[in-house]
Amino acid sequence: MCGIVGIIGKENATDILVQGLEKLEYRGYDSAGIFVTGKNKQDYLVKSIGRISNLQTKISPEIQGTVGIGHTRWATHGKPSERNAHPHTSNNHQFILVHNGVIENFEEIKQEFLQNQRFGGETDTEIAVYLIEYFSKLGMTTKEAFKKALTVIKGSYAFALIDKNDPETIYVAKNKSPLLIGLGDDFNVICSDAMAMLTETNHFVEIADGEMVIVKADKIEIEDEKGNMVYRESYEAQLDLSDIEKGTYPYYMLKEIDDQPAVMRRVIQEYTDSMGKAIIDPEIIEKMTASDRIYIVACGTSYNAGWVGKAILEKMTDIPVEVHLSSEFGYNMPLLSEKPFFIFLSQSGETADSRQVLVRTNELDFPSLTLTNMAGSTLSREADYTLLLHAGPEIAVASTKAYTAQIAVLAVLAKAVGDHKGLEASKEFDIAHELSVIAAVMETIIDEKMAISQLVEEYLSETRNAFYIGRGVDYFVSMEASLKLKEISYIQAEGFAAGELKHGTIALIEEGTPVFGVITDKKTAAHTRGNLKEVESRGAHNIVIALASLAKETDQLIIPDVHPLLTPLVSIIPTQLIAYFATLQRGYDVDKPRNLAKSVTVE
Ligand code: F6R
Repeated sequence: MCGIVGIIGKENATDILVQGLEKLEYRGYDSAGIFVTGKNKQDYLVKSIGRISNLQTKISPEIQGTVGIGHTRWATHGKPSERNAHPHTSNNHQFILVHNGVIENFEEIKQEFLQNQRFGGETDTEIAVYLIEYFSKLGMTTKEAFKKALTVIKGSYAFALIDKNDPETIYVAKNKSPLLIGLGDDFNVICSDAMAMLTETNHFVEIADGEMVIVKADKIEIEDEKGNMVYRESYEAQLDLSDIEKGTYPYYMLKEIDDQPAVMRRVIQEYTDSMGKAIIDPEIIEKMTASDRIYIVACGTSYNAGWVGKAILEKMTDIPVEVHLSSEFGYNMPLLSEKPFFIFLSQSGETADSRQVLVRTNELDFPSLTLTNMAGSTLSREADYTLLLHAGPEIAVASTKAYTAQIAVLAVLAKAVGDHKGLEASKEFDIAHELSVIAAVMETIIDEKMAISQLVEEYLSETRNAFYIGRGVDYFVSMEASLKLKEISYIQAEGFAAGELKHGTIALIEEGTPVFGVITDKKTAAHTRGNLKEVESRGAHNIVIALASLAKETDQLIIPDVHPLLTPLVSIIPTQLIAYFATLQRGYDVDKPRNLAKSVTVE
């Protein structure tokens, strides 16, 4: 949600900033901008609405410098416009600032400090740059003015500030929003995500909330809130440039759908031994075994994965599991059990809604585990334990491989706890073998791309809306399948418990409405087929996704059988491809759907 880059000490700052912003475009693409300057003090501010490609068309060859900052925006305060695009400048044009996050007390700041200020745009960031200017005019140095502003500002932020009178320094600060410093030889960079600066360095330093950093070409100085100097080791990013390239794929989403069999094999490799035994940190197992209830907290696709996780965990561990939306849990906390154990599911590890719950559970001293794709992310750092998804970077805004990786890692975790408790269900569950079957079945489905594309053309080309229905885990898959379809193709799609449709929503079924039925469970197959008949007799076009052992000849998508607890890992694959092809056929950008961003760092 908004991406920040910065560089100091290299001749070609402009190119590096723009390339970095392209890598961060997944964080928002409402507008973009850069500011560059150099030793000759010539400076350039370029902004544009929309994608980085629009910004590029405005950058002429003379726009060069050795220091600069850049920003790609996901609009929170103020609509996407050039006026609201970052970087923002102070009245006297001395200070230039980019910001990721939300300043919560911007109205109070206006009232207290900026009553005579005229505002050019509608963003909260403008307040920050005027506030720094305000303190500077009181006689403070830039560093003092920046630090003073940080004491006044409440909310989430990653800031990068340049003072045009001193183009040898970038001032940086962070609270809740992600920001890293990358270390080079006689140059340094800043970025919201290491991915953006991998071409320049793979050595990064984390910044903790509340810290301020002075970044110069040859050194960085970190200060904590009290003004104490902090020394922190750098780490080497475990990322390869090839991981973040599309290669020959037209879209990241298709690449990431295709990656899923390899991800399953990586989960086996990372979390099981040569005998196929689940290997999980014993402390996590003990804490979970000692708990009387597990609370899964997540948003969006991760939340949908949480429901599948609940089904597996309860079966394998005999521990009751609740699944909660992070954005609701924070304000509407349920009555908790005596010994809760919290699992946060988050691909990015940065989702603000989930983080605010984690802050609260940490205050209450409850044990917590984050399952994330991003080592070192905020949720990973702040939870007691982390299990990485090992899915590789997921760049398409619509999540695919993180969903299946989350379920696979939860299944290994469930198996490890079940084994520790000596439970019968777990003894019979050969997780390494079952996940390798899953990987092979995923490949078979992925090979059917062309058939799925044709199906989409036949059933979804004209429609305004669509339904996915199922029962039990097939309902959970329906929730995720419909989210995927609606978020990228803009077809209004709903995932529904098959039995619930007749209690109201069936009123929406019209002649030709596509209804996808997901059927992977013997216990519920006949009932779901009954519900499909009900909608068919009201004009719906039914499309059935069924396991081979439960399929009828007339079913459109038949999937080889897998372990009953793991069917979501395979039944989701055709639905991801359906969403992909529906979007492609409608001519929309598969990887960057409107209004969305990959990493949602505002509440
Ligand atoms: C949908 C999607 C989102 C995310 C949600 C949570 O395709 O990707 O619904 O799942 O924003 O994000 P994470 O998992 O990063 O916490």
